[in-house]
Amino acid sequence: MRNKSWCGWTVWHWRRNPTGWILTSVLLAISLSESVRGAEITCPDECSCKSTFDPAEGSMVRVTCSRGDMHIVPVDYIDRSAHVIIISAPPGHPNFLTIGPIFTQPTPFANLLELHIVNSNVPSIGQYSFWGLQNLRLINLTHNNLTSIGADNFRGLLNLTDLYLDHNNIEQMASETFRHLTSLKALNLANNRISTLVPRLFRMLAKLSFLDLSENPLADLNPEVFKDVQHLRVFKCRRCLLRRINTQIYHLVPHLEELDLGENQFKYLTSDEFISLKKLKKLKLDGNQLSVVVDNMFGRNQELRVLTLARNRLALLAPAALTNLTALVHLDISHNKIDRFHLQTFAPVVDSLKTINFGGNNLPLNEIAIVLQILPEIHGVGLANLSIQELPPNFFIYNEHLVALDISWNKLTTFPYKLLSKTKFLQRLDISHNKLQTLNEQDLQRLEAIAEVNLYKNHWHCDQCGAVTMLLYMATTVLNGTIRQLKCYSPMRLHGTNFGELSFDRLDPCPTTHEAQMSVIAGLMLLCVAVLAAVAAALFCTRRRAAHYYTNEEKRREREHEHPDELLGHTELGSVATIHAPYQLVSKGS
Ligand SMILES: *[C@@H]1O[C@H](CO)[C@@H](O)[C@H](O)[C@H]1NC(C)=O
Ligand SMILES: *[C@@H]1O[C@H](CO)[C@@H](O)[C@H](O)[C@H]1NC(C)=O
Ligand SMILES: *[C@@H]1O[C@H](CO)[C@@H](O)[C@H](O)[C@H]1NC(C)=O
Ligand SMILES: *[C@@H]1O[C@H](CO)[C@@H](O)[C@H](O)[C@H]1NC(C)=O
Ligand SMILES: *[C@@H]1O[C@H](CO)[C@@H](O)[C@H](O)[C@H]1NC(C)=O
Ligand SMILES: *[C@@H]1O[C@H](CO)[C@@H](O)[C@H](O)[C@H]1NC(C)=O
Repeated sequence: MRNKSWCGWTVWHWRRNPTGWILTSVLLAISLSESVRGAEITCPDECSCKSTFDPAEGSMVRVTCSRGDMHIVPVDYIDRSAHVIIISAPPGHPNFLTIGPIFTQPTPFANLLELHIVNSNVPSIGQYSFWGLQNLRLINLTHNNLTSIGADNFRGLLNLTDLYLDHNNIEQMASETFRHLTSLKALNLANNRISTLVPRLFRMLAKLSFLDLSENPLADLNPEVFKDVQHLRVFKCRRCLLRRINTQIYHLVPHLEELDLGENQFKYLTSDEFISLKKLKKLKLDGNQLSVVVDNMFGRNQELRVLTLARNRLALLAPAALTNLTALVHLDISHNKIDRFHLQTFAPVVDSLKTINFGGNNLPLNEIAIVLQILPEIHGVGLANLSIQELPPNFFIYNEHLVALDISWNKLTTFPYKLLSKTKFLQRLDISHNKLQTLNEQDLQRLEAIAEVNLYKNHWHCDQCGAVTMLLYMATTVLNGTIRQLKCYSPMRLHGTNFGELSFDRLDPCPTTHEAQMSVIAGLMLLCVAVLAAVAAALFCTRRRAAHYYTNEEKRREREHEHPDELLGHTELGSVATIHAPYQLVSKGS
């Protein structure tokens, strides 16, 4: 029933020499009839198997079973020479598997380098499950249902460097759980239910350089535990319910290059918080509750390149907050409560900073302009969510290297053509979620030269004036995909319609220039009439009200309550009527 497919070096041959398909199929035919020892690969029906050539590894046999709904690993039909086994399942069709020592008995998969069993509801790893898989370097058991793991699960894995156990339900881990994994370099335990780290948990993991504990309800980190992993380079504990960190931990891991403590509950950091982390290159503190970054906070982190402080409660960056950050490349201070800057704050980073995100603060544009003026090297600027109605044409006059600009979620009503005609190197523009109604030919020509453009969620007005040029550019230029997905905002009749579904004859005609002029004049005249009428009515009403006041005040109150607009009713009705009548005459007349 099972296929014995010949997919050894023929696949490789095919990839290297696509024109030689005839030769390949001849070889394939020969191989099917005449089995050549050592070169055939057995492959289960529900899997795909191929042999690829890797310059570093030589020939690699890779088995992938990813259809889902699997209840047993078809291990008897997987070729014993496999180097990589991937068992996964699409969302909605998970597997339900158990794994005992299936990969080691009766004979082990001696070549196995990587084993992935993912989204398969695996409830536990049996003892000695991987015994004898001496060459195994990577185990990937993410998205399963493991609730506990123990040292015996990992016996014999002398050469394992990568262990991924994230997205399980692990609660318990005893001391020395990983003691057999002396070569381990990366350990991912994110998205589990670990609430405490017992002492000596990481014993024997002297080579560990990557540790991810994110999304576990830890609330506190025991410094003791970090004594065993002093060579950590990357440590992540996002959403760990942390309020503070015992800085003793940082003394124990002085080689740390990346620290992610995002989305915790830090309220305050002392100025010597990160003093031990002299090698730190990337620090993420977004989504905490910090209200200030104090002076000299990063004075000893001179190699820091990326600093994320977004979504805190910062009202202030102290004047010396960025002292010594002369290598800083990316700074994100978006979504705080910052309303002004000290210019000297940015002095240390003027030569290095390439991107800065100001979005979602209470910053007026002139505060931002003053900072941008001293950042000539800047490549990317984030200005989203700043209630911007208009950007002055010279806003980026000192930032001639600007490559990426995010001005989404603002209140722009017209495309900032003059501004963007001066940013010659712009390659990414996000102007989505604004109030643009239309783009003219000039705007579209400018946009054509920008590689990535987002125009989504604006107030696109789909009549023959507003949309025709855009439709033309959609049909003939690289903006095709960008414009096609936009939706009309007005008129009501076309609200929500995709530009891709529009055609010229579905659009309302627009007033000609003459009509437009006429309606402006008519509008002005009507305004005068309306004002006069309002004044007259107001006078009239005041008199009437005064009369009522002295005669029957109670009655008046009742009436006013029922029809609060009544007093002005005459005026409004009158003006509405007069506005509409001549306008229609003008349109009909042409
Ligand atoms: C684990 O396997 C899944 C499914 O094949 C894959 O998407 C994921 O990238 C793997 N993780 C690692 C670290 O290799
Ligand atoms: C996952 O494990 C828990 C605890 O053992 C169990 O209650 C639950 O039914 C398991 N879920 C699946 C999908 O097997
Ligand atoms: C695996 O570990 C053994 C024992 O430490 C060693 O002799 C062998 O060379 C290692 N294999 C690989 C592929 O690193
Ligand atoms: C900044 O760096 C210099 C030179 O390494 C060092 O002497 C100084 O103490 C640092 N400043 C702070 C505030 O840590
Ligand atoms: C802008 O703010 C809205 C609403 O708070 C939010 O959904 C959106 O993600 C923000 N956009 C950016 C780019 O910050
Ligand atoms: C625009 O995109 C649509 C759908 O992706 C495609 O059918 C059409 O041929 C494209 N037109 C041009 C001019 O590229």
